[in-house]
Amino acid sequence: MSEQIYHSDLLENDVIISSKGRETDIPASNTKKYYIESYGCQMNVSDSEIVAAVLNQSGFQGTDNEKEADLIFLNTCSIRDKAEQTVRNRLTQLNHLKKIKKGLVVGVLGCMAERLKSKLIDEEKLVDLVAGPDTYRDLPRMISDVDGGQKAVNVLLSREETYADIAPVRYSSNGVTGYISIMRGCDNMCAFCVVPFTRGRERSRPADTIVHEAKEMVAQGYKEVTLLGQNVDSYRWTENEKLKGKNLVDAKYEEGVINFSQLLEMVAKVSPSLRVRFSTSHPKDMSDDVLEVMGRYANICNYIHLPVQSGSSSVLDRMNRTYSREWYLNRIAAIRKHMPNCAISSDIIAGFCGETEAEHQETLSLMDEVVYDLNYMFFYSERPGTLAAKKFKDDIPEDVKKRRLEEIIAKQNQHALQRHKEQIGTKQIVLLEYTARRSDQQLVGRTDGNKKVVITKDRWNIGDYVEVEIADCTQVTLFGNVIRKIDL
Ligand code: 5AD
Ligand code: SF4
Repeated sequence: MSEQIYHSDLLENDVIISSKGRETDIPASNTKKYYIESYGCQMNVSDSEIVAAVLNQSGFQGTDNEKEADLIFLNTCSIRDKAEQTVRNRLTQLNHLKKIKKGLVVGVLGCMAERLKSKLIDEEKLVDLVAGPDTYRDLPRMISDVDGGQKAVNVLLSREETYADIAPVRYSSNGVTGYISIMRGCDNMCAFCVVPFTRGRERSRPADTIVHEAKEMVAQGYKEVTLLGQNVDSYRWTENEKLKGKNLVDAKYEEGVINFSQLLEMVAKVSPSLRVRFSTSHPKDMSDDVLEVMGRYANICNYIHLPVQSGSSSVLDRMNRTYSREWYLNRIAAIRKHMPNCAISSDIIAGFCGETEAEHQETLSLMDEVVYDLNYMFFYSERPGTLAAKKFKDDIPEDVKKRRLEEIIAKQNQHALQRHKEQIGTKQIVLLEYTARRSDQQLVGRTDGNKKVVITKDRWNIGDYVEVEIADCTQVTLFGNVIRKIDL
């Protein structure tokens, strides 16, 4: 993996997913084909499914072959400089295609579009269209502007847009697991983070539309859903007219307000055989009522992604995370109290502004206390316009950042192996998701705790829940033997 760094939160796993729209949605009148690549987090994958739906409704046709596309869209990520560099390199490659194929339209969508706006058109000469994350309904109009010989830019951020009424086209899905976006934007101003600037103000999607989408997924045969938001714990929705437009965070316990624990319960009740996951939880907001609901429903996975970012209270303060090391460890204790076997993952940043060697050691010692199942680890990359860029010097030399990151990764590798070894001899319920890359005689699935398990294909199928006895492991994978197929 690039930089030896993993990331999945709203995740930067450097995955590129291409598009193929549903052919049944295509009116005969439009013969133009589009191709979408998603970079970065799960939220971008989910957004690309909205883009595909908008385009299909306007008669465009998805393709997973970029060579036959008339429109190529890159749904981009700005979280670190490297993510933007990857997109710029891809744009250079596309330049060749543009020379061969006259009339090819290249569009940049998502966070980079929002951050760089029309600068993208000036800097990257081949870009025809720039669309921010809240403007996807406007894409058909923008495309027709481009057809008319203009460049098109729309980067307006919205306080309301949640695309609640648009049924996503899950073109890259395995038909077993999928995402539902429950909120957009972020109101937390973590000092290192560009997301509040690229995705705008936090807003929650109506609860009934989320439940409806989960029901549709069950009807289509999906077995697992992940509820997505930058900070799912601050989900708030109300039909109560008196509360509309008010800050619902302050109205936490008011009648008629649906909070995240209630939403989670509503989705868990859609079907006992639909597994439910969610991401991302913020330590400052993760409350015991969510843990209590998780403990009560067998189909809510015992897995929490709770990014700590640093184990040092002073660094957390500079990061503006609004919690301390002690607060975070208290949240870990609360998780373990409600669900002793709950898997926990995190995001960690090495070498934030002013980080001393002692503060770095505190991150390592916190990791020892928690023993994470999984971690997404990065070195700090200054992002223009963020609080940290304005307030602090990016003063940790690159070699020091990298050395600290390596120490964090080395520790995580030990812990991941330890956590995996603990699974040997246990029986786990695994949802089979896809055929192994190495052998078509093997299937890969995940445990309730989000651990990857490889089994022999035998008579089992993708989409089956199977009980598996874990026999062996590496630090990234479990290997097991199927005992029987089960209903969840
Ligand atoms: N530099 C490094 N890592 C960052 N992240 C967010 N912004 C930065 C940055 N400027 C990481 C955080 C966050 C994850 C999505 O990406 O760990 O949780
Ligand atoms: Fe960025 Fe913090 Fe919001 Fe997460 S909670 S998206 S790290 S500002």
